[in-house]
Amino acid sequence: MSAKNAKPANITEIRPKVVFQAVERMYPAQNTEFTVNIPTSAIGGLTLLESSVLVSFIKLISPQEIFEFGTYMGATTLLFARNSQERTSIVTIDIDPSTTSTREGINEKEYLSDDAANDEYLKDIFSKHGAIYIDRAQKAIKQRVTQIHQDSTTIEPKAQNFLNRFDLIFIDGGHDFNTVKSDTKNALRMATDDAIIVWHDFRSQIHGDVTSFLNEFCKNHEIIHIQNTMLAFMLIGKHKEILS
Ligand SMILES: C[S@@+](CC[C@H](N)C(=O)[O-])C[C@H]1O[C@@H](n2cnc3c(N)ncnc32)[C@H](O)[C@@H]1O
Repeated sequence: MSAKNAKPANITEIRPKVVFQAVERMYPAQNTEFTVNIPTSAIGGLTLLESSVLVSFIKLISPQEIFEFGTYMGATTLLFARNSQERTSIVTIDIDPSTTSTREGINEKEYLSDDAANDEYLKDIFSKHGAIYIDRAQKAIKQRVTQIHQDSTTIEPKAQNFLNRFDLIFIDGGHDFNTVKSDTKNALRMATDDAIIVWHDFRSQIHGDVTSFLNEFCKNHEIIHIQNTMLAFMLIGKHKEILS
């Protein structure tokens, strides 16, 4: 059964304002601003609403360390760096362009309708241009970002010193079922005892596997979907109370 036709999974739906209300409760006497680039015209980035939700999570939990699966142009890496505290560091992973061959010349019709072609297209863009938003950032911001070039499915959290380390983890790398499953398994080991794990492309019209995976995963984990976005997340430890 395709993800689109599947019976609705037991995933809680909330409106974006539920997250914003939590921010208002935490900062009742001040404006809470965030810094963001004009969204890229290329595919593969976040909407402004999605960006504001991710920044809200940062405001709510003040993470020490953030991990991102899928750097791409680095726009969200930069969003994390610019909207967190100076002590916050960000580790972001994407494929190694020197060892990964990517398919070139994929046309728009193909990458907008086929999930595998879409992933190949994004990999190809990354291999050709790298994380341009990080490259163009100020030195002080760049210093807080560590880029890793490695297939995320080959991560060894213990050997790479990632165990129990990250307070916010964003899963937005390869979108096929096995990669999302592997990234999630690693994320659970890499998360601190009080953390938030966020997936992008949930209920995407293109990447059905993220939805299929989370429809399974939610049988044993409490997953929340934010309406009008492709974000789904799980709260760990004391952060389970963050929206109440
Ligand atoms: C949707 S883009 C990431 C977008 C980025 N997080 C943002 O918000 O701007 C997906 C990225 O995942 C990378 N990717 C795909 N498969 C991967 C894998 N197995 N390991 C590491 N990165 C992968 C692609 O090269 C691509 O750059």
